[in-house]
Amino acid sequence: MTAPKEVRERIERLREEINYHNYLYYVLDQPEISDEEYDALMRELKELEAQYPELITPDSPTQRIGAPPSEKFEQVTHRVPMLSLDDAFSEEEVLEFDQRVRRFLNMPNATIHYVVEPKMDGLAVELTYEDGVFLRGSTRGDGYVGEDVTNNLKTIRQIPLRLVGRHRALPRILDVRGEVFMNKDAFLALNEERRRAGEPPFANPRNAAAGSLRQLDPSVTASRPLDCFFYGVGYVEGASFSTQFEVLTALREWGLKTNPLSKRVRDIKEAIRYFGHLREIRPTLPYEIDGMVIKVDSLELQERLGQKARSPRWAIAYKFEAAQAITRIKEIELSVGRTGAVTPVAVMEPVKVGGVVVSRATLHNEDEIRRKDIRVGDWVIIRRAGDVIPEVVKPLKDRRTGSERPFEMPKTCPVCHTPLVRKEDEAVWRCPNPDCFPRLVKKITHFASKNALDIEGLGTKVAELLVSNGLVRDIPDLFKLKMPDLMSLPGFAEKSAKNLLDAIEASKKAPLAKLIYALGIRHVGEVTAQILAREFGSIEALKNASTERLMEIDGIGPEVANSIRSWFKEPENLKILDALREAGFKMEEGGQRATEGRDAVSGKTFLFTGGLSSFTREEAKRAVIERGGNVATAVGKKVDYVVVGERPGSKLQKARALGLRIITEDEFKKLLEG
Ligand code: IVH
Repeated sequence: MTAPKEVRERIERLREEINYHNYLYYVLDQPEISDEEYDALMRELKELEAQYPELITPDSPTQRIGAPPSEKFEQVTHRVPMLSLDDAFSEEEVLEFDQRVRRFLNMPNATIHYVVEPKMDGLAVELTYEDGVFLRGSTRGDGYVGEDVTNNLKTIRQIPLRLVGRHRALPRILDVRGEVFMNKDAFLALNEERRRAGEPPFANPRNAAAGSLRQLDPSVTASRPLDCFFYGVGYVEGASFSTQFEVLTALREWGLKTNPLSKRVRDIKEAIRYFGHLREIRPTLPYEIDGMVIKVDSLELQERLGQKARSPRWAIAYKFEAAQAITRIKEIELSVGRTGAVTPVAVMEPVKVGGVVVSRATLHNEDEIRRKDIRVGDWVIIRRAGDVIPEVVKPLKDRRTGSERPFEMPKTCPVCHTPLVRKEDEAVWRCPNPDCFPRLVKKITHFASKNALDIEGLGTKVAELLVSNGLVRDIPDLFKLKMPDLMSLPGFAEKSAKNLLDAIEASKKAPLAKLIYALGIRHVGEVTAQILAREFGSIEALKNASTERLMEIDGIGPEVANSIRSWFKEPENLKILDALREAGFKMEEGGQRATEGRDAVSGKTFLFTGGLSSFTREEAKRAVIERGGNVATAVGKKVDYVVVGERPGSKLQKARALGLRIITEDEFKKLLEG
């Protein structure tokens, strides 16, 4: 099969692009794109080259490890090349790796022992010790030749200038390998300092580490808080090992720091389980890891397995799922929300991000689209952080073909065509028509939703039917519905109609917090509603609370307070409250306060950061409130526990700085269980 012209051109373009980014990354330590973007380019190139192998050239970026050493430094040839690792992104790929190992060794039924090690996200170095004395150190460079950074390495306190021979005889020559990295805290502090000095910040801790190590002036390196973990050896004279685990033990005994989370496992299943553990504790680690390296433990088997062009057959890097992905925006749609906000939403080609398939992402508002210059047809980077809804990070402008279309915000509501309005201090456009169809439908489904009044059978479909048939023009109308009304609707029979009426009737007994939440006051989520119910005890008291009074409450700021005040000022809303009271709602706390004082959570303040795996953020908050605890939204001294999930935000750094108690999701679950 000869390659079509477009393919050849695309390959050429990809190579140019990758080479350019390599230069930015390796030479300047100032990348312009994220690792995920870079990986996506590399992946595309590899796939095209796999399809058309005749187009592979020896200088293709796929054929090379790392980058050539910079001319700024003396060069050091690695006596044993520093290879790279193949990646695996799923359990399946890891199981295949294990099978490949056994097949290659002709041991199809054997159980292979592995060593698993956190994959440090820093930069690889090789250090030479002769008779225990540190002689020379270099970066990986292109795997064969690296840069001499001896003097810079000497400034890192964790690197011994002389090895310890007390526990184990010192080798004549030891080429030891490890990863130089910077702790997350140190990285943030360094960037803060750089910002203040008007210098460009580093993109991530790894670039900060690389930039700090590759300095011509070692005093600059000395001022940067670098650290190092060692994980392997190259050329060795005067010592021998039989397993990778023994290598780690020996390094530790000689005084070379190894990662205490490295571990020997009995089989691939245990390795996979450990990956789950590392993923869980990852956010609580002071340094960045981007996965786990799995290595065949026996060095004899490693020898037999050997290597491919640029990576060994005996190891694999099991990487954490990327939280970013690249896809194309097919359309920008507008969605009319419960409060009338008209939000532009990107409809994208489905793509997997952080383990979930995503096809829609909010674009927030018109200003945001303009600021990021997002156009219909653009290739974009999207990101999912924690359990946050996916967002578009930025368009890839160099992939534009000219057929992309800038977005224009319409002047009227896309549904009811009422002219949209925008308050001076707000970025959102709103449809001012309270009867606008989707607005009303969302208001009703929110009122009936599980976490609000939990009216079973009143989802979007039924709400649409009720509204479009003129049976419901606002919430109180729900309580006027009769059997014949429902029976006249398509899809309703006697039984389903009765069930719905019963569910509506039952909702009147809901606790006050649920009712407050169901009203759909802007900024009043479930947690705030619980706080308000606890604080005021009745709708009447809440209605009469001043902004100042509201702001005295922990967790309620000016924005929320104002929103509550304006909701209760609206005559329309007061009418709804009257109608609900008339329909039989009690509108005050029925004494079913949460189980206060019963467990370790009561009276304690929790803060969440990052995505949890077995709760949504709201569920976790509810669990705390239900047990009489509080939920904070910002880091502060009052916080008792910071619960850290996957990919936490800056809150974690701040919490650490304040010395707050940081716990994992598992520990949080244990607290809940009492
Ligand atoms: S072993 C042939 N172990 O990952 C074995 N590498 O692509 C190659 N890395 O450049 C290295 N932590 O910088 C190994 N525990 C670990 C590692 C590790 C991080 C980096 C290393 C290398 C890259 C491999």
